[in-house]
Amino acid sequence: MNTLVKTLKRAAAAGAVVLAAVSLQPNMAQAQPADAGAAPPVVGGKPAAKGEFPFMVRLSMGCGGALYSKTIVLTAAHCVRGSGSNTGITATAGVVDLQDSSAVKVKSTRVLQAPGYNGTGKDWALIKLAQPIDLPTLQIAKSTDYDNGTFTVAGWGADREGGNQQRYLLKAEVPFVDDATCKSAGGSYKDLVTAEEICAGKMDTGGVDTCQGDSGGPMFRKDNAGAWIQVGIVSWGEGCARPGKPGVYTEVSHFAKDIEAGAAQLGG
Ligand code: ARG
Repeated sequence: MNTLVKTLKRAAAAGAVVLAAVSLQPNMAQAQPADAGAAPPVVGGKPAAKGEFPFMVRLSMGCGGALYSKTIVLTAAHCVRGSGSNTGITATAGVVDLQDSSAVKVKSTRVLQAPGYNGTGKDWALIKLAQPIDLPTLQIAKSTDYDNGTFTVAGWGADREGGNQQRYLLKAEVPFVDDATCKSAGGSYKDLVTAEEICAGKMDTGGVDTCQGDSGGPMFRKDNAGAWIQVGIVSWGEGCARPGKPGVYTEVSHFAKDIEAGAAQLGG
């Protein structure tokens, strides 16, 4: 992985606390649904409805996540500092508006970062919560069957490259990009870990993507039974929504067994 991507990841991790603090300021109201016509949101998306993605979680370090179980959030390894006892993360759930007084806020007790994570691939982590959150969870893909088609992404991250974190949850749809095409994007993409990473985005036009602060959030689609299933975790990209530069996501199916084992270690 080249310096650019490493810089992006570090910048996201380092900037996370600042971004979370900024998102608490009342002037974040700029990103209200009423303004949605002005700047295209996640990038190129639109506001999600309350309850539409009930498993979506905002993490206080400035990342996204999804409820794997009522007491465990699945996020990105680069969103956390390591494994062990950790009471410093707050998960906010049950809302699209982070300032909604009905938000459920629960603290972390422990973190499990993917074993062997070193900044390339393996970008997943589990956060154990102090209390269960009584909301629907998001099942993870256990085979590559759903690693294709059109995916949904959602998050409170920037609505454009270099943009602000959002107060309201935004959603967008991104098409699957195959490994060979993704690698051909050059730069950092040449080092794509094809078994561990899955790409999505509009290669030809760009314009729709996840962006800084969406990291750790889920990329998902419908399974054959019509239920949401998680196929990816927001990981990295060169910039956001650039033509020819797709978003890169952790390939959840590849890590399904490890994620299950990790969750069992954390007590389900
Ligand atoms: N690393 C970023 C974060 O920490 C996510 C970037 C995703 N970029 C993209 N172009 N899809 O929030």
